[in-house]
Amino acid sequence: METRDGVWLMPCALFLILSFVSQPSMAADSISVNETISGDKTIVSSGEVFRLGFFRPGKATSSKHYIGIWYNKVSDQTVVWVANRDAPISDPSASALKFSNGNLVLLNESRIPVWSTNISSTPLGSLRATIQDDGNFVLKNGPNSSKPLWQSFDFPTDTWLPGSKLGRNDTTKQTQSLTAWKNPEDPGSGLFSLELDPNGTSAYFIMWNRTRQYWSSGPWVDNMFSLVPEMRLNYLYNFSFVTANNESYFTYSMYNASVISRFVMDVSGQAKQFTWLESSKQWNLFWGQPRQQCEVYALCGAFGSCTENSSPICSCVTGFEPKSSLEWDLKEYSGGCRRKTKLACENPVPSGGADRFLLEPYMKLPDPSQSMAVANDRDCESLCLRNCSCIAYSYKDRRCEIWSGDLLDMRKQSPSDPGTRSLYLRLAASEFSSRKRNTGMIIGIVVGSAAVLATVLAVLFLLLRRRRIVGKGKTVEGSLVAFEYRDLQNATKNFSHKLGGGGFGSVFKGSLADSTIVAVKKLESVSQGEKQFRTEVSTIGTIQHVNLIRLRGFCSEGSKKLLVYDYMPNGSLDAHLFHDKVLDWKTRYQIAVGTARGLAYLHEKCRECIVHCDIKPENILLDAQFCPKVADFGLAKLFGREFSRVLTTMRGTRGYLAPEWISGVAITAKADVFSYGMMLFEFVSGRRNSEQSEDGTIKFFPSLVANTMSEEGDIRSLLDSKLQGNADVEELKKLCNVACWCIQDEEVQRPSMSNIVQILEGVLEVNKPPMPRSLLAFNDSHEHLVFFTESSSSSSSNQNSKTSSTTSSSQAKSSTSTTSSSNAA
Ligand SMILES: *[C@@H]1O[C@H](CO)[C@@H](O)[C@H](O)[C@H]1NC(C)=O
Ligand SMILES: *[C@@H]1O[C@H](CO)[C@@H](O)[C@H](O)[C@H]1NC(C)=O
Ligand SMILES: *[C@@H]1O[C@H](CO)[C@@H](O)[C@H](O)[C@H]1NC(C)=O
Ligand SMILES: *[C@@H]1O[C@H](CO)[C@@H](O)[C@H](O)[C@H]1NC(C)=O
Ligand SMILES: *[C@@H]1O[C@H](CO)[C@@H](O)[C@H](O)[C@H]1NC(C)=O
Ligand SMILES: *[C@@H]1O[C@H](CO)[C@@H](O)[C@H](O)[C@H]1NC(C)=O
Ligand SMILES: *[C@@H]1O[C@H](CO)[C@@H](O)[C@H](O)[C@H]1NC(C)=O
Ligand SMILES: *[C@@H]1O[C@H](CO)[C@@H](O)[C@H](O)[C@H]1NC(C)=O
Ligand SMILES: *[C@@H]1O[C@H](CO)[C@@H](O)[C@H](O)[C@H]1NC(C)=O
Ligand SMILES: *[C@@H]1O[C@H](CO)[C@@H](O)[C@H](O)[C@H]1NC(C)=O
Ligand SMILES: *[C@@H]1O[C@H](CO)[C@@H](O)[C@H](O)[C@H]1NC(C)=O
Repeated sequence: METRDGVWLMPCALFLILSFVSQPSMAADSISVNETISGDKTIVSSGEVFRLGFFRPGKATSSKHYIGIWYNKVSDQTVVWVANRDAPISDPSASALKFSNGNLVLLNESRIPVWSTNISSTPLGSLRATIQDDGNFVLKNGPNSSKPLWQSFDFPTDTWLPGSKLGRNDTTKQTQSLTAWKNPEDPGSGLFSLELDPNGTSAYFIMWNRTRQYWSSGPWVDNMFSLVPEMRLNYLYNFSFVTANNESYFTYSMYNASVISRFVMDVSGQAKQFTWLESSKQWNLFWGQPRQQCEVYALCGAFGSCTENSSPICSCVTGFEPKSSLEWDLKEYSGGCRRKTKLACENPVPSGGADRFLLEPYMKLPDPSQSMAVANDRDCESLCLRNCSCIAYSYKDRRCEIWSGDLLDMRKQSPSDPGTRSLYLRLAASEFSSRKRNTGMIIGIVVGSAAVLATVLAVLFLLLRRRRIVGKGKTVEGSLVAFEYRDLQNATKNFSHKLGGGGFGSVFKGSLADSTIVAVKKLESVSQGEKQFRTEVSTIGTIQHVNLIRLRGFCSEGSKKLLVYDYMPNGSLDAHLFHDKVLDWKTRYQIAVGTARGLAYLHEKCRECIVHCDIKPENILLDAQFCPKVADFGLAKLFGREFSRVLTTMRGTRGYLAPEWISGVAITAKADVFSYGMMLFEFVSGRRNSEQSEDGTIKFFPSLVANTMSEEGDIRSLLDSKLQGNADVEELKKLCNVACWCIQDEEVQRPSMSNIVQILEGVLEVNKPPMPRSLLAFNDSHEHLVFFTESSSSSSSNQNSKTSSTTSSSQAKSSTSTTSSSNAA
């Protein structure tokens, strides 16, 4: 069989290669009533941007052909529109795209229409279908008719091109939505789609099987989607929302029209924006949502379980196997898994013993089919066992949840993830005998760790009891003091002396009963539960390093969440760098080294890597000797999901964020490296990176440094004028060098924090840094810089009542953070 297929396909592949080589150089851009597109004939838009014709997706093993539009110049054939996505033809030379009764139709090998433009008939004559340079395929009656009779932009497949609309026409009830391909080799309508809220708000939804929404952009407010704060950082796309004449839609254009870009509903269930990089001949992911692959609803199909950052991302739960391993190999998991061994209760004559339940620990549970009150977990189990259609149960706090039918949207989690539960899965008894050893091991581990846990708890209990006595009324957890709100109220004189504020809460000066001076941070909108808050806080409490601010205690009473830190008499670095005070060069350099040491400790020496996510001068505090102490670490985990929203919308943070924050890839410690680099530039200049100068022009200091470095210009000219030239030139060079390495676009190119420490200490030498790609863009287009400063981003909004557009935004560097990389993004 296989050999026969192979032989069969060879002439076909050869034919394709030949046809590609012999492409006519002067192809037309349209077809008229008596012309036909067939075989290898294609038409090309007048500016040679897009090409239309038959194509075959995927490997040469497929016999399915489609009429489609792809980029003419992009070497990697990238299809943006497909006519007959759900009705492929197998032989293009025997099929034809032609006019018939005023419609453009695709006839298959048997001359049967499989696709049509389906417009009510119009007089024949000067009908003409043209592929345009914007990627739109339009059908017009005569060259001068302004309104197309039909256009491909009204029927997008999975790609939204600049200039086309996504929305609905309330008069015709017609909608434009994007539906992902089934898999990379099949453009057929897949399960994931992106559409405007059918209820009429301006929010976009990503849906599974057109019924289940799993992501929302939030409504369009102030020129951005409320739940996509990273849009503020977008400097490429000009989005507008239009509501007029009974229609509402979004459209977008590129600020730089020569940038090739597309917005796709991807087979992965994520919406993605790509730009084409001609230099590397590849598509560069600019933005994607949902951020986590496993947030895509039912990605792994029935009985499939998703594990973030694993490869493959989907697996079948125990006792199940992929329904189609062929599809799973293509990363199309939606077919899901099937049971390996039939349940005993399904057999007319039960054999092999009664069904049993297997524990799947740490799961994000699927939506239950039923939930009821029970006395205990045994009752829950027997409730499920009695009914053969019950295939799984989960018990917690006297509630029994049971499932029947397919189990969808399961995720493997880690024990610390919120909402993690245990699922008991019904399996045939024989599944247990075949994995007896495994189960034994699991039990062994469980028993073993339970014993360890009990010992630890006992020791802790004893310690706590002792501490409690020492603390004189105050509860003590580990090295942390648990304060009462009233105490902190007194200590801070009812929060009267404010030291600073930010998106996560304000900081107040206070004095404890033993007259130690402290800084009390009042957290805003912490979404964590009580237990998790305490866990996170005690983790932060164990982190001690000379360059990290020390947490002394906390208060948690309902929504009142406060953190108590050591007080730093010299305040935060920004006050010294950007204002009248002058920090001498030696101090600046020592602060740079100390900060790097503190961050290296957070990234590499803690039990769990902690990504700070918000490195900026405001978060570097100075003690009496100007020794730097990094503040606010560990907040990403305290705030959970809320964190990135707050961070990306907070004033004074954007200029330090790494590009990962918008591209949607996981955030790692290298995001901190980026922010640290951005801050180093400010050590040199003594000014904010993106300040507007007196004559109104905006100079982006990192560009200036990178240019000076690459042209070997006078590096001293970059130095803060307040220093009057008093600086060690070698150190200055080193700092500029490190800063340029830190802000490289590729995370792998950025050095680690411990490398930075070594470079600054002179232990490690470093080469000349390459120019970061994003800075090149800045050199070319100064208009983008306008969007970079925060003050101008708000004034740039278009106040037209009908059309609102995002002219806001900043530069390629954006970003924010999280803690442990497993929790990233
Ligand atoms: C289409 O057919 C008509 C008459 O059959 C002919 O006059 C005309 O030149 C043809 N057009 C093209 C583009 O071949
Ligand atoms: C052409 O399409 C019709 C209708 O979809 C189908 O029945 C027929 O088998 C197709 N012919 C070929 C050769 O595929
Ligand atoms: C064309 O319209 C008819 C009826 O209006 C519908 O049944 C058919 O599915 C449509 N075909 C296409 C390709 O949209
Ligand atoms: C189309 O418009 C052009 C210029 O306006 C005119 O010269 C030409 O005659 C028109 N063609 C038709 C078919 O109306
Ligand atoms: C909406 O549909 C109606 C009816 O086809 C059409 O007249 C109108 O122009 C459409 N609106 C837009 C903005 O395309
Ligand atoms: C949309 O409307 C339906 C029916 O009015 C309602 O049940 C549903 O909750 C609404 N969805 C949203 C997202 O508002
Ligand atoms: C999608 O929904 C349809 C009904 O709307 C249903 O028949 C089909 O089974 C669903 N697909 C999956 C994969 O569940
Ligand atoms: C953004 O798009 C709107 C609406 O299409 C347009 O009016 C505006 O000029 C565009 N802005 C830029 C900077 O291109
Ligand atoms: C909008 O829709 C309403 C009701 O369907 C209709 O009366 C009105 O004429 C429409 N307006 C336009 C501009 O199409
Ligand atoms: C078994 O469970 C299914 C699904 O929950 C339910 O519809 C059915 O009524 C149950 N049968 C019995 C006998 O309880
Ligand atoms: C627009 O993009 C092109 C290609 O990426 C680049 O060569 C050009 O310099 C850019 N123009 C501006 C004004 O940014």
